[in-house]
Amino acid sequence: MGTITNKLFVMCSILLQVLSICFAHNITAFFVFGDSLVEAGNNYYIDTLAAPGFPNGEELGFKDYTPPFLAPNTTGDVILKGVNYASSGAGILQATGSLFRLYKMDARKFVVSSVAKVGCIPFEIDTHICAQDCADSLNNFAKLLNSKLKSLVGVLTNSLTGSLFVYVDNYAIIEDIINNSRSYGFENTDSACCKVIGRHGGLIPCIAVSRVCPDRRKYVFWDPFHPTESVFLIAAKHQMDGGPEYASPVNIRQLVNS
Ligand SMILES: *[C@@H]1O[C@H](CO)[C@@H](O)[C@H](O)[C@H]1NC(C)=O
Ligand SMILES: *[C@@H]1O[C@H](CO)[C@@H](O)[C@H](O)[C@H]1NC(C)=O
Ligand SMILES: *[C@@H]1O[C@H](CO)[C@@H](O)[C@H](O)[C@H]1NC(C)=O
Repeated sequence: MGTITNKLFVMCSILLQVLSICFAHNITAFFVFGDSLVEAGNNYYIDTLAAPGFPNGEELGFKDYTPPFLAPNTTGDVILKGVNYASSGAGILQATGSLFRLYKMDARKFVVSSVAKVGCIPFEIDTHICAQDCADSLNNFAKLLNSKLKSLVGVLTNSLTGSLFVYVDNYAIIEDIINNSRSYGFENTDSACCKVIGRHGGLIPCIAVSRVCPDRRKYVFWDPFHPTESVFLIAAKHQMDGGPEYASPVNIRQLVNS
């Protein structure tokens, strides 16, 4: 596909999305929708309790992350290169309507992320008193939603001429990381590295009085809700170059090059 189809690349993220930037230089515009896992600072500009501890772009070590839509200086030519609409605490509806609008504006390549294994984050483990390891009921909801999302993604590709929607299976990705945690170098898969209280440090967000674990690289979770940078890097690799169990019908590198 030529330059026009490369012009707009859209990532619609529901829970765990990573890659925003790795390939931004190969495409002319890049738009990000999602919640705190991909947010780059929009919630600094709105009145909300769900403000990010620090913008995720920086957390990932990227110098030039996609600028937050709500930043006062995200104007003029800056917008032509893409905008990050992600907002901590965002739901799904906001993003879906936008996809059609962007298709009308020539967006052709889309990445849609599944909901990750949400029942296994420290917050859910600590707040579901009966849960041994994970809150299974939530994982089952996630699986149900994901199966519908996956078929929707196929329907969208078939019905929007010239489009290609990639379904990224963040549920399988985080499951792989937890299942094979030792071989990835993790020693803790169920507690927040930055913790205050809760059996798994899941009850309070990472704040000034929190204790931080000595080596965050050994933890799957940074805080009650978010994985660590190490997890994001593995997830990014799976999404970028992984097989169909992680990204289908093609992976993100193949999407970018298609
Ligand atoms: C917008 O302002 C922020 C904060 O001052 C700065 O870090 C960022 O580089 C600016 N972005 C642009 C596109 O000028
Ligand atoms: C993780 O392990 C569980 C339990 O053995 C298994 O059912 C699941 O398929 C594994 N997932 C991945 C992605 O390897
Ligand atoms: C982006 O372009 C660079 C240089 O041409 C190339 O090495 C890299 O593989 C490309 N990335 C993707 C995702 O295609």
